[in-house]
Amino acid sequence: MTPGTLLQQITDYANRANPYPFYAELRKTPVARQDDGSYLVGGYYQVRSLLHDPRISSDARNLVGQDGRGLQVEEEAGVPPSMLRLDPPEHDRLRRMAMRPFGPPHTPRRVHEMRGELAQIVSGMIDDFQGKDQVDLVDHFAYPFPVTVICRLLGVPREDEPRFHVWADTIVAGADPTAGEDYAERQRAMHQARIELGRYLAGLAEDHRHSPGDDLLSGLVTDHGPDGQMSTIELMSTSIVLLIAGHETTVNLITNGMLTLLRYPEHLERLVKEPDIAVPMIEELLRYEPPVHLAPPRVTLADIDIAGTVVPKNSTLWLGLASGNRDPRRFDDPDRFDPDRRDIQHLAFGSGIHSCFGAPLARLEAQLALTELARRLTNPRLVADPPPYRPNPLLRGPRHLEVAFDGVRS
Ligand code: HEM
Repeated sequence: MTPGTLLQQITDYANRANPYPFYAELRKTPVARQDDGSYLVGGYYQVRSLLHDPRISSDARNLVGQDGRGLQVEEEAGVPPSMLRLDPPEHDRLRRMAMRPFGPPHTPRRVHEMRGELAQIVSGMIDDFQGKDQVDLVDHFAYPFPVTVICRLLGVPREDEPRFHVWADTIVAGADPTAGEDYAERQRAMHQARIELGRYLAGLAEDHRHSPGDDLLSGLVTDHGPDGQMSTIELMSTSIVLLIAGHETTVNLITNGMLTLLRYPEHLERLVKEPDIAVPMIEELLRYEPPVHLAPPRVTLADIDIAGTVVPKNSTLWLGLASGNRDPRRFDDPDRFDPDRRDIQHLAFGSGIHSCFGAPLARLEAQLALTELARRLTNPRLVADPPPYRPNPLLRGPRHLEVAFDGVRS
């Protein structure tokens, strides 16, 4: 394996079911230059430290194409980057404003207060399995559950899902870095989808301004905090990222989680017998099979020395979150799934200023979902292993997860 092709191998769909040997290869060098001029980093300590390094930019407008020209497509297309793809101070301001209706210090109990409602949604979805002996857990549970939750949280009508699903899919496909003949077309479609989804969400927000509810869109349009109010365009980019990040990742946590637990059924049973294990179990699942494998690409704002290799200014940098999570320099026996692991500071939610905004919600959703599946399904088992995967190499998870069972407990 040559370092110059590692990114290709990691992102190659043929390797989606098991990219981990390529990460082991990657970790043999602190940083690997790729044939396309980008750099790939996979060691836990290097990834973590770069996520905190102010000389590394997340701003999508700094990305430089292979021809040396800027890739300023997002701005040209009308909807500017969201907080995810911005640097301070713009990032910090938008994040502070979005956080006010969602979490500490202003609404500290927000996620906690959703527990009862979330449990009801989970339970209703599993009730619908009655009378069946097999379901696709992605289409009938792991996808619709977080979609329902993020719709309620944001104040988006659940019945509009078929509309925004198409835009969300197009945006996620546009974030796939795999070069290919259709790359330019995927980018163009992504920008168009961002405009349409942004307009749709801005329209909803306008309705909420006139009759506000207890949702985030209402909070964002009515709240007057020290940072002022979001402009319409900022509201568009913020609600787009919340809607998409709010479900496209959690679906993978639930399906990767169930896949892993069905491969290790003794641990699935522990969720029933020792309910307190749910918290560390989900953390270990986040480490062992993280939903996000590579962080969105960064750009170096200066020449940066990474363990003796200088990455020149203006280089694209790929940070391997999943690779870091399996680094033996950080975790003992990292390829072992071990929910009793004590030391488990994984990188699944990133680290530093962009660390996941929705992590408390994602954790709660996964704890409730997996515990309830474990409790209610009798003798659940995988129908296909490995299952077919979704195409996206950054957001890695099964496209379908067929699970057979003998019955559904009440
Ligand atoms: C298991 C589920 C999830 C995973 C694995 C995940 C993972 C991540 C990661 C790795 C980042 C950092 C990206 C970077 O460093 O560039 C991130 C950021 C973000 N996530 Fe999540 N996420 C999940 C669920 C959610 C949910 C439920 C929401 C919304 C309610 C959400 C909203 C966001 C936002 C807005 C950011 C950008 C934060 C910033 O730039 O400051 N995520 N997420």
